[in-house]
Amino acid sequence: MPNIAIIGGQWGDEGKGKIVDLITPAFEIVARFNGGHNAGHTVIRGDRKLVLHLIPSGILHEGVRCVLGPGLVIDPQALEAEAREVEALGIDVWANLIVSDRAHVLLPHHRALDLMSEERKGSGKLGTTGRGIGPCYEDKAARRGLRICDLLLRDRIDAKVAAIREHFEALCRGYGVTRDLDWKKTADDLEAFGARIAPRVRDVSALLHREMVEGYSVLFEGAQATLLDLDHGTYPFVTSSSAGIGGVVTGLGVPPSRIDGVLGIVKAYTTRVGTGPLPTELKDAVGEGLRERGGEYGATTGRPRRCGWFDAVVARYSARVNGFDGIVLTKLDVLDPLEEIPICVGYRYRSTRLDDIPADVTIYEDCAPIYENMKGWNTPTGDVREWKDLPPQARDYIKRIADLVGVEVPLVSVGPDRDASVIDLNARTSSWLRA
Ligand code: GDP
Ligand code: IMO
Ligand code: MG
Repeated sequence: MPNIAIIGGQWGDEGKGKIVDLITPAFEIVARFNGGHNAGHTVIRGDRKLVLHLIPSGILHEGVRCVLGPGLVIDPQALEAEAREVEALGIDVWANLIVSDRAHVLLPHHRALDLMSEERKGSGKLGTTGRGIGPCYEDKAARRGLRICDLLLRDRIDAKVAAIREHFEALCRGYGVTRDLDWKKTADDLEAFGARIAPRVRDVSALLHREMVEGYSVLFEGAQATLLDLDHGTYPFVTSSSAGIGGVVTGLGVPPSRIDGVLGIVKAYTTRVGTGPLPTELKDAVGEGLRERGGEYGATTGRPRRCGWFDAVVARYSARVNGFDGIVLTKLDVLDPLEEIPICVGYRYRSTRLDDIPADVTIYEDCAPIYENMKGWNTPTGDVREWKDLPPQARDYIKRIADLVGVEVPLVSVGPDRDASVIDLNARTSSWLRA
């Protein structure tokens, strides 16, 4: 099997967790390359719902190795709490989990800084997940971060933590606030955590290289999504990592030539959590209907997700930036009861038409969607398992999206369960989805 990347094509929560879990049997390794426990990837196993934040969504499959790459920021407490939750399902997490020696460590003061920064922004806040992700990546970029490899020596931990504390306290003084954190406990916890995970720590780039040379296949699991990517998203309303395809290269130490295919995961409508532009947002009962039927509440924070119609400009932008070979269209079933389904095909900004996403969010906020109306199918699709059994109007909707985005749709998802998936066997990329 080739090595395939799974990338969010909108503003996150497209159903990446479900799709990774579904197609994992075709791979030997699943590797996360970006973000931290701001992600919330839902995987359903029987009647149990598991929300994974750091651990790759392939963990439920026996013998599949799950890798946390150098591009991640790892909160030790969050990782261990999550591992316990997965272990409660009878899975030997630590036997299969590998942690990069180069990944950065997210500390309690990062969380404090995230919350302080949001508070200071007031009504201009980003609506972050409050997990400390941004400040941890800031420390990384400022070259004062603590990495997993630093946790293996006590003296190193003490010296690094002391320097981090000094910087944090200087920031607090500048802001005119005090935050008393237990730095001694932080250092002790880090030492204990370092000792526990040491056997699972590896040079991930070297490991993946070896395995790929042996012929094993890797599934690269993206967190967040293209429009939340630090460089390509709706800046500043983005996360602080590379959530697009570039993140695979930088976040794992894997060369582009090793990425054989890219699948974008795209919802059949659009959602966003947190602040920032969302041109097709529906602030009415129709939007409320999508939220309720789609269960659109954050998997990490429980916040209601903002909902709107499918935005082909966004999906086309993502397809271009990432080079999607195919898009997996999820949550089609949520549109089942609608008579008519608008698709946004372009934007109107003042008197001009825009067919791409402007860099300036104040312009983007002012863009009004130009819609094309599609007929609804008004039939439940949740039990459909074969392409030919999809209602003709649903197939038209999928085909229109494929045409507008310029990429084929090898799979549609019609429910949260693994088996609620319909593969188009005629699609070139459908072979990547099957073991
Ligand atoms: P991720 O962050 O991209 O992994 O997505 P989330 O797990 O945050 O959000 C997706 C939500 O939709 C989860 O609750 C999934 O169980 C659910 N889901 C995934 N695919 C489908 C689908 O095709 N139909 C429906 N109704 N729900 C789905
Ligand atoms: P998954 O992987 C949706 C959003 C936050 C906020 C912005 C910055 O489940 O799709 P951060 O805490 O990262 O600094 O917040 O990014 N955000 C997500 N939205 N899905 C996610 O992950 C997200 N991770 C971060 O809501 O707007
Ligand atoms: Mg999510």
